[in-house]
Amino acid sequence: MALNKLILNWYDKNKRDLPWRHTKNPYNIWISEIILQQTRMEQGIYYYNRFISRFPDLKTLATSDEKDVLLLWQGLGYYSRARNLHYTSKHIYNQLNSEFPESYEELIKLKGIGDYTASAISSICFEKSQPVLDGNVFRIISRVYEIKNPIDLNKSRKVFKEKAKEMMPSDRYGDYNQALMDFGSIICKPLNPLCSSCVISKFCSAFNNNSVEYYPVKSSKSKIKLLYFDYIVAKHKNQFLIEQIKEGIWKNMFQFPVHVSESKKTKKEVIKFLLEKYQAKNLTIKLIDSEFIQHKLSHINIRSRFWLTENKINVDEGIYVSSFKEYPMSKLMHKFIEKYTHELSIS
Ligand code: ADE
Repeated sequence: MALNKLILNWYDKNKRDLPWRHTKNPYNIWISEIILQQTRMEQGIYYYNRFISRFPDLKTLATSDEKDVLLLWQGLGYYSRARNLHYTSKHIYNQLNSEFPESYEELIKLKGIGDYTASAISSICFEKSQPVLDGNVFRIISRVYEIKNPIDLNKSRKVFKEKAKEMMPSDRYGDYNQALMDFGSIICKPLNPLCSSCVISKFCSAFNNNSVEYYPVKSSKSKIKLLYFDYIVAKHKNQFLIEQIKEGIWKNMFQFPVHVSESKKTKKEVIKFLLEKYQAKNLTIKLIDSEFIQHKLSHINIRSRFWLTENKINVDEGIYVSSFKEYPMSKLMHKFIEKYTHELSIS
């Protein structure tokens, strides 16, 4: 039996019962695929169910406030994905008469929908013959064909895409793509793959050559940038100053005013930044904790410190708030707020 048929047979017996597998509605599939690019399956199911209860259909999402979408996305990271979801829902609702495009070519034109998502939606919802390339598929293909091109280099994509196309069956495209993803998560795992119960092991070059552990190949790791974030916790009458972030990965979310630098700053330097920003007089600041709170993003390692200043800063920009719950904030802000709720008597 052909490799693709073996994978489909395996899927029919072993597929995971996931909430979005009970529908072919492109709205649901879109939401699930974007969330799953952010997180592991277990957490993804939780976020998906929460998202769908709050925004059950395209119209609800398109007519909601971006702030509410960001609030629900908190903790997932890559907030541009949430902003793009909201933007594209409005576009489909207003410009496309609420009709989701069906083809890969039309889907990929939409903001936030790339090669992976366009392939997933067009194959799962509309039975188009488009192979998906996610981490699972890269891994399976690299092992089956012993492909040495590093999977984290853009130029390798073409090689894998070609192979993935060759491997497609002649029908059940959506099932087949999902079968590969399940197969990669359950059998052809990154560590300790279950080769002894693998239904395609006889087709697998790496298995036959005893080299599974060497695949997939990755290039030497890209450099991680180190940044120092000095946050200013400005307290006034039991209220705290927060600002809306204007750009970058946390755009439109909220945080304490912050000074960002590639090197560790002295207290004097942090005060200087504050004097320039707020023209405050007799400014005193003190470190809430001498230890850094560390926060890792994919390519940035943030070392953050939080400086307390009381009753000194008045602002035109930003707002003083007593409750943080209504404002979408990064995981890093939450880490700090949770750790120091008691000390700061934050509600
Ligand atoms: N990971 C991302 N999308 C998936 C899907 N549709 N099925 C299984 N795993 C996935």
